[in-house]
Parts: sequence; structure tokens; C-alpha cells
Amino acid sequence: MIFNKYITVNEEGHLCIEGCDTTKLAKEYGTPLYVMSETTIRDNCRMFTKAFEGYSGGGMPLFASKSFICLEMCRIAAQEGLGLDVVSGGELFTAIKAGFPMDRVYFHGNNKTEQELKMALLNDVHCIVLDNIDELNMLSAIASAEGKKARVSFRIKPGVDAHTHEFIRTGQIDSKFGFALETGEAFEAVKTALSCDNIEIIGFHCHIGSQIFDTAPFELAAEKMLNFIHEVNSKFAIDVKVLNLGGGFAIKYTESDPDFIYDSFVKKILNKIERYCDENGMICPQVLIEPGRSITGAAGITLYTVGAVKNIPGIRNYVSIDGGMCDNPRYILYKADYTACVASKADKPKDFEATIAGRCCETGDLIQENTMIQQPNHGDILAVFSTGAYNFSMAMTYNRLPRPAVVMVNKGTSRVIVERQTYMQLIENDI
Ligand code: LLP
Repeated sequence: MIFNKYITVNEEGHLCIEGCDTTKLAKEYGTPLYVMSETTIRDNCRMFTKAFEGYSGGGMPLFASKSFICLEMCRIAAQEGLGLDVVSGGELFTAIKAGFPMDRVYFHGNNKTEQELKMALLNDVHCIVLDNIDELNMLSAIASAEGKKARVSFRIKPGVDAHTHEFIRTGQIDSKFGFALETGEAFEAVKTALSCDNIEIIGFHCHIGSQIFDTAPFELAAEKMLNFIHEVNSKFAIDVKVLNLGGGFAIKYTESDPDFIYDSFVKKILNKIERYCDENGMICPQVLIEPGRSITGAAGITLYTVGAVKNIPGIRNYVSIDGGMCDNPRYILYKADYTACVASKADKPKDFEATIAGRCCETGDLIQENTMIQQPNHGDILAVFSTGAYNFSMAMTYNRLPRPAVVMVNKGTSRVIVERQTYMQLIENDI
């Protein structure tokens, strides 16, 4: 199927993922259920790694764990040789518990706490990506108190406006993330860091946004970053060699979204960097990228059980499911597009216009409005595609709805990788 080559329809007309019948998965593990295709995740990791072959500066992908993090995902990223982008003490803790090699961990965040900086430093993460000058000062003080040297890079706002939803656009000057280039703020920050004995600058980072379809904004960002690296290296007589271009590669949510071949997407950006360095007499930097959605997004589907089907004559059909904004807040947040199908009728035409409604006490708790699916009936399993990124990781428990389980499928087998939250767990911190 279009979203993921491991999604198929069997002879009974049932939707399958990696050879597992989704109606059976729903029966075995209950709904709502996140189902992740391990082979898709591993294929994507390998594809990104392969994209660096032939690039003279070398480089590697770091998995943006915020898109989907649990112990098993950290283990998979580690086995596939990727680095890891973590953005909080909680993500770092998960990586530590999964045994992720700390020398491949990059610690992000626009307002890291003192405790988080200390945790990152004491656990020897490879690099702390500084967001602001307060953080630099705080880290320098912590490092000197601990008698350690902190390896850092700087998150730069390259002033590139990526054409994506305004809430997930981050490279422009009006953004809470990072140091501005235009104002000289980034330059000053480097100067300050160079005066700190316990800070070692190892690279520069930018992330221009998420769900970006085009290579042009990445190429532009790379060019601006290379200019900056060239400038600081020559002005301060330093030799910083790492350029981290962040993540943001789009995935398909609907049939009309274009197809992506990530290795050629990345190769195009790397070619641009090589050309630029060649023309400007620079040595090609080591390039890091931070794909999140593009590794896990299309690997995931969510299964729900259909409850009430309400027809409001002349208005719309509400198809209620046993999940909603709590397991997938992306429609209520971004009006994100999704494609759905009735899992037991996947071979039938989509001739029913549905507004898929969740079960929270919120009018906006919808997964999709006026979308075409097969005729749904009470008790049917409804599958929503491309939910592997920013669904489980953004899930919440509003209305005290427990978080669904995550099942990993791999060539006809399935296993739980995150248990369904229980009612007892919902109250465990209540006193
Ligand atoms: N690196 C940095 C520094 C980031 O801030 C992000 C995403 C990534 C990498 C990974 O981006 P990706 O490859 O996954 O697009 N919740 C939103 C997405 C927020 C992305 C935040 N940062 C959504 O559901 O669309």
C-alpha cells in the first residue's frame, strides 16, 4: 500500500502489516493499539545511513527520539548504528536505560534545566546542543563545579522559512529556538564559549522545521550555516567540522502527498554542500541529520474499534472510535491529514464519508473530518495510517483514558513493546 510497502490486504480482504492481520492484532492485544513495523523502521535507518556513502566529509543520522521513544526503539536505533537526539531528561533516561551508547547522544532542548544539563554532562553525552546564552553560562558553571569539559554545539536559526505548518516551523528569526544569525547573536555566543575553559565547541546545528517536502530550504540552510562556520573558523582561528542540519523530512499521510526517496533527498543536500565547499575552498564538514518522522512515521498504524455511527442528515456522519485526541493529538493541534480504512473491508471501495470522532469531552476531538472510508459498522476495526511518529510520543491521558499499548510486528510475528497503561497506573502518583 502507498504508505508502507509492508501494508497489504489478504485474501479475506483484511488489512495486514508485515503479514499480520490487523483484525487479529486488535483481537489479541485490544484497541486502541499502536502497531509498528520493525522492518520499515530498520529499512529507513539503513537508507539514511546509506545516503552518506560517497560523501567526502562523512556523517550519520541521529534518530530524533521525540518522534517515537521507548526502550525498544532506542535499542533498534543503537543496533542500526544511528546516533540519538534527545530533548529532555526523560528521553535521556530512556536512552540510558536502553543501554544506548552515550557517545552517540546529542542533548537538545530550548530551555534545559540545570538538573538536565548536569545529567547530560555526568552521563557523558557526546554533545549538548546549546540554545541560548543562559544555558551556556549555566553549563560552564556546572562543568567547572564537576571538573569536566562539556562538548557543545550551537543551535542556530539560519533565517530560513520552511513552508510547513507554522507550529512546526523553526528556522525563522521569530522562533523560540536557538541563536539568531542576522543579529550577530550566534557569533557573540561562540565568542563567549571560546572564553570558557570547560567548554569545547564541536559543531553547529540548525533545524528548520518538520514535514518539509522540498530540498530547497535545506540547501539554503546548509549554505547559510557553511558561511557561518567559515566565518567563525577564520575569525577565531578554530576548526569546527560538524554541521548538523536537523530533521524535518516529510512523509506521506495521504495519497496525494508525494513519494519520498530519502537517500536521494539527503544526497541532493550533500551534493550541494560539496559543491559549495569546493567553490569556497572549504573542507567538507561532517554532516549530521536528525530524522524522526521519516524513520517511524510510515511504520505505524493505529487500530481502533468503531462504536456509534451517527448520521446527522444533510450535515455529516460521525464515526466514533475508542481513541482519539489522547492517542493522536495531531488533528486537534495541526489539522493534520490522515488516511483511514476499515480493516476488515480493506478490499472494498471507500464510499462512506466519515468524520472520525474520538471519545474525549471535546468537540474538537477528531482524527479526520469528511474522509472517505469503507462502510463502517459498530465493532469494526478502523485503521489510521502513518501514525508512527508524534502519536505515541505525544499521547496524553485526558479524561483518564489509559495510553494504548504498542505492538511491534516483524515478518508475521508480533510482540508488545510498550504495555497498555492500566487504571492503577493512572492513579499511581495520586496521594
Ligand atoms: N531535530 C530537532 C532539533 C527537532 O526539533 C526535531 C523536531 C527533529 C530533529 C525531528 O524532526 P522530524 O524529522 O521528525 O520532522 N509534533 C509535531 C512535530 C514537532 C517536531 C519538533 N522537532 C508534529 O506532530 O508534526
